[in-house]
Amino acid sequence: MSILITGGAGYIGSHVSLELLRLNHKIIIVDNLSSYSTGYNVDALKNKYSDNVTFYKCDIRDYNNLTKIFTENTINCVIHFAGLKSVKESTLDPFMYYHNNVMGTLVLLEVMKNHQCYNLIFSSSATIYGISEKTPIYENFPIKPINPYGQTKAMIETILNDLPAPWKIINLRYFNPVGLDSSGLLKEESHIYPENLFPYVIKVIKGNLETLTIFGNDYHTRDGTPIRDYIHITDLSLAHISAFNHIDKVLPGESESFNIGTGTGYTVLEIIDCFQKLGNPVNYRIGDRRDGDAAESYACSDKAYEVLGWKATKTLSEMCQDSLL
Ligand code: NAD
Ligand code: WQD
Repeated sequence: MSILITGGAGYIGSHVSLELLRLNHKIIIVDNLSSYSTGYNVDALKNKYSDNVTFYKCDIRDYNNLTKIFTENTINCVIHFAGLKSVKESTLDPFMYYHNNVMGTLVLLEVMKNHQCYNLIFSSSATIYGISEKTPIYENFPIKPINPYGQTKAMIETILNDLPAPWKIINLRYFNPVGLDSSGLLKEESHIYPENLFPYVIKVIKGNLETLTIFGNDYHTRDGTPIRDYIHITDLSLAHISAFNHIDKVLPGESESFNIGTGTGYTVLEIIDCFQKLGNPVNYRIGDRRDGDAAESYACSDKAYEVLGWKATKTLSEMCQDSLL
């Protein structure tokens, strides 16, 4: 029996793959190597765990190739990471986002059904809550995404929620994953001008970019910069192991959703301060607010602890330190 990892060449998929391999699971990675993924992470995993990793370069919208992969292997569960994730790009080319993320998921579900594989863990996102009126954010808060990327995640959750027995679905709604596995085996590959805070800060610290622009310091927060729930990639990856161990207990025809965060929010200036205290000066300037940014977003992850027995344990200092590997 194998676990199929879509998007396993990417940042999160490769880290979850690593945790599964450490536990001796057999995995199959399917990735089309788009989104800046060069295949570096797949090579690293294959070099270390060759017997238990199979890689297929394949787009999940390619019905025939995906069918071949399901025919050649016995797959009992899919962890579905494959997707495009840039908010900005999704506003410039919404069609590409709906086609890739939503159509990709529909093709995947059809092929899974044809092969009687009904267990799916889905990479959802805190972005589905849009700009929440209250924090911390609970799983039953309104779903109201404010950009096409977020819409694709909400639509996919809707589709998954509608699947009848014997489907068993777990939606993991990630807050802000950061850092790298402490072994240094894997990389986060990103654009020269990343959208997310941590990859940008790392480029500035490493001298690849001159200055970080802080998108506004006039929010109603303790220092005027926005608050987010950053979570170490290893904690986030272990949430998938807990979800995988739980999926048999999901009632057929049900989907269960969990916030995956630490429950603690930090401001942008607190992140910079943490890097500086670790000996890494960050050159920054204050710029305008970025459209669509919430002042405050952090999770209540109690449900993940109560049902999955999972909670984050790594500190902000570990997140910053492990981002620099
Ligand atoms: P990533 O870009 O590093 O990885 C995504 C991978 O999916 C890439 O390797 C890409 O080549 C692959 N892919 C994309 N479309 C594909 C397709 N049609 N067929 C096959 N492969 C395809 O991104 P990530 O940060 O690892 O994110 C993984 C998932 O988690 C995404 O679905 C993303 O929306 C979700 N997510 C990410 C974050 C975050 O901050 N990184 C937060 C919440 C949710
Ligand atoms: C964090 C904070 C910025 C860059 C995004 C996606 C969301 C989800 C998580 C996938 C904010 C500030 C950032 C910079 C800055 N991804 N910032 N200068 O905004 O929570 O959400 O990632 O699902 O969909 O929208 O994370 O890392 O982009 O920003 O000041 O150069 O850092 O304003 O306050 P965010 P982020």
